Amino acid sequence: MKGLYDRTNIGNLVLKNRFVRSATWNGMADREGFSTKEIDALLLELVRGGVGLIITGHAYINRDGQAGPGQLSVSNDRYVDGLSRMTEAIHSAEGKIILQLAHAGCHASAALTGQEPLGPSVMENEKGPFCRAMTIEDINRVVAEFGHAAIRAREAGFDGVQLHAAHGYLMSQFLSPFYNKREDDYGGVVENRARIVLEAMQKIKAEAGDDYPIMIKMNSEDFVDGGFSIDEMLNISAMLEEAGIAAIELSGGTRYSGKNSPVRGGQINNEEEEVYYRQGAQRYKQQIAVPLMLVGGIRSYSVAEKLIIEDVADYISLSRPLIREPGLVNRWQAGDMRKATCISCNLCMKAAREEQRLYCVTETKSPSK
Ligand SMILES: Cc1cc2nc3c(=O)[nH]c(=O)nc-3n(C[C@H](O)[C@H](O)[C@H](O)COP(=O)(O)O)c2cc1C
Repeated sequence: MKGLYDRTNIGNLVLKNRFVRSATWNGMADREGFSTKEIDALLLELVRGGVGLIITGHAYINRDGQAGPGQLSVSNDRYVDGLSRMTEAIHSAEGKIILQLAHAGCHASAALTGQEPLGPSVMENEKGPFCRAMTIEDINRVVAEFGHAAIRAREAGFDGVQLHAAHGYLMSQFLSPFYNKREDDYGGVVENRARIVLEAMQKIKAEAGDDYPIMIKMNSEDFVDGGFSIDEMLNISAMLEEAGIAAIELSGGTRYSGKNSPVRGGQINNEEEEVYYRQGAQRYKQQIAVPLMLVGGIRSYSVAEKLIIEDVADYISLSRPLIREPGLVNRWQAGDMRKATCISCNLCMKAAREEQRLYCVTETKSPSK
């Protein structure tokens, strides 16, 4: 029977348990996107807290894909030294670490990049268009940049890479019929919408080597009218499986998804409210053999354990619970089975943005709780 503390393999990567720290931007890189000692310390605390695999915050592969302040960059060879220090710190504590490769597409911050955002199609808001449609040259360039970024990740010692194809960022925009209105080979039928993702994967395999683990974080569904559906997610997962993806992490939502946004606010009061993407995961496991990491709203040990025993997921991926309690996995393993104390207030996101620091604001205000 499967258990949370099984030792498992994802390709050549050996993991000591089934707990993953889901990618979490911390706002703590310097202004140019270089990693910092503070980031190394934050991640080291997570390894010491027992998590089997860490996925970094999203790192932009080109400046034109920068989403927010204090975000890591992997857009140039200059970044390899700082990233190497990060992997050395993690490996010296016997942790494992994956670099999340990202491009924010039409949701890049024009204020930070100084450029008009680009995505699959023109997007408009009440003030008019805010994003231009990518040309084929743009697409080829971005695919190449994913490849270069993966070479840097490998050089820096990361145990693999994860493509950020969730939450309405560039890859997710291409996958989603809500964002992607193209009429060329990169839009329309699901095979076309998946093309850029598969090309990026092939490029990474060609450049970083066939044995280098490539994972992906993808929406189970967008939760917007005309958006990406569970059926499409299953279709694309089969394509990724065929292409040799090492693991798929299922998330969901975009910034247009209201209460179903990727980082849902609001306290989770009982076990029934946990696991935002259970339905997508259940259907995935019936059809796809690639290891599944499941993120979103998992708070209780008993829920996590059941997801593994009942084979709804292969890995339990957590973000906010580990901001408040970096030692949560060790706490559970030591027999304190109380649920995670995170109340999903999302003040941590505000702190990352405004204070360039990731911490649990609620706990800091009321440390006795
Ligand atoms: C502060 C913060 C930063 C995040 N940064 C990223 C990111 O860089 N990449 C990503 O894929 N998801 C990011 N997320 C989303 C989480 O990985 C996760 O999908 C979401 O918070 C739901 O999981 P949870 O309920 O365990 O927090 C972030 C979430 C938070 C709270």
